[in-house]
Amino acid sequence: MDARQYAPATQRNREAILAVLSENLMPQSNILEIASGTGEHAIFFASNSKSWHWIPSDINPTARESIVAWKNTNNTDNLALPLDINVTQDNWSELVADRAIDAIVNINMIHISPWSACLGLMKGAGQILSGGNILYLYGPFKRNGEHTAVSNARFDESLRDRSSTWGVRDLEAVIETAATANFQLQQIVEMPANNLSVIFVKS
Ligand SMILES: C[S@@+](CC[C@H](N)C(=O)[O-])C[C@H]1O[C@@H](n2cnc3c(N)ncnc32)[C@H](O)[C@@H]1O
Repeated sequence: MDARQYAPATQRNREAILAVLSENLMPQSNILEIASGTGEHAIFFASNSKSWHWIPSDINPTARESIVAWKNTNNTDNLALPLDINVTQDNWSELVADRAIDAIVNINMIHISPWSACLGLMKGAGQILSGGNILYLYGPFKRNGEHTAVSNARFDESLRDRSSTWGVRDLEAVIETAATANFQLQQIVEMPANNLSVIFVKS
């Protein structure tokens, strides 16, 4: 059985995300990806930047099986086996205590999970990363409480229909939450399809 899963959006956004990551993440970094989903980003980033050591993770066992299947078909030795990380669990950061993580990447999670996932992500990332390290977020965001595109407003509605705890987040609230874990906003990059790359640096 082929456990590989496919998320078509990853094919459309992976080049643009890789370009931003390449500008912001140092070579030879150990990079922890939270919520890797199918693993298609992980395999693409690891294959295209061999100097990174990419550590994928996901809360969902089916996603982790997919990541392993992608890894097995691509033989990418700078891609680790996926970790079982749920950022809403207390002390999830201890799961990587034995690895020297230099950066954390989180793509398309905080709007498709309860707000507690954003809080948990920031708290754990603050415990894991050191001064100067990067936390990278990607996804759609509201700015000053307003959607930046009609497509994002529709997407927000569809998310809220699926779960009242989901929804496109206010960038300002995310920045405030990041600050509580000692992350300062470094850069916002406008991405295709009305998404943003939001880059924080640990102080
Ligand atoms: C929309 S998918 C995005 C996957 C991938 N990053 C991408 O862009 O294709 C959201 C992912 O977040 C994961 N997720 C949701 N809640 C989580 C949590 N509390 N901790 C870790 N991962 C979580 C889900 O299992 C899912 O794989």
